Amino acid sequence: MIHELNNPVVKTLINHLRDIRIDALRFRHIVHNLSHHLVYEALKKETLSFKEIDTWQGKHNFGFIKEEKLLFVTILRAGLPMIEAVTDIFPAAESGFLAMKRDEKTHQSVLYYDRVPKSCEGRTVIIVDPMVATGGSLCDAIALMKTRSPERIITLNLIGAPEGLDIVMQKHPDIELYIAQIDERLNADKFILPGLGDAGDRSYNTPA
Ligand code: PRP
Repeated sequence: MIHELNNPVVKTLINHLRDIRIDALRFRHIVHNLSHHLVYEALKKETLSFKEIDTWQGKHNFGFIKEEKLLFVTILRAGLPMIEAVTDIFPAAESGFLAMKRDEKTHQSVLYYDRVPKSCEGRTVIIVDPMVATGGSLCDAIALMKTRSPERIITLNLIGAPEGLDIVMQKHPDIELYIAQIDERLNADKFILPGLGDAGDRSYNTPA
């Protein structure tokens, strides 16, 4: 199921990202903020497990999300600021990394690095990737993660095109996809319109 965040703060932040005068530091800072919004929304129904902690008034039980159960997976490189942001909130969660490059001629994604646990049984896998254009990278990442048998898969995305999101949902109707903004469409080069350009390049000031 797709959950588009419908929050004016989120829309304001997304629209700042569209402004090409935003430098890389501010771009990543906004990506951090949006990633926090997305993970709050995605985990808003999590049950808390109680554990004893030492407080200023002695030992007491309080509820916490079981972060050891969470496995954040990102697709290099544009997803790096997102995984930094979510693991800031859950430092005991594990992280996995996939590298996929979209072939700019065929528009197919190619996996060239896989540093994700071989078994993810019992885990909540949360894939973070800012853009869903054709949906190819996200579909491939979800398919790969399914081979590792997690309990469930959630994705956090900043911006997507309806064409790519439809494909992700057709191929993987069982996942929960949280996205800050669904834009209008893809152009002939499979870029999101109006979009924000290439999130990886903008995050790290990489010349096109
Ligand atoms: C971007 C983005 C997604 C992918 C989306 O990565 O981070 O992974 O494109 O496109 P798709 O839906 O058509 O697959 P890119 O290949 O530009 O690499 P980068 O992270 O190094 O910028």
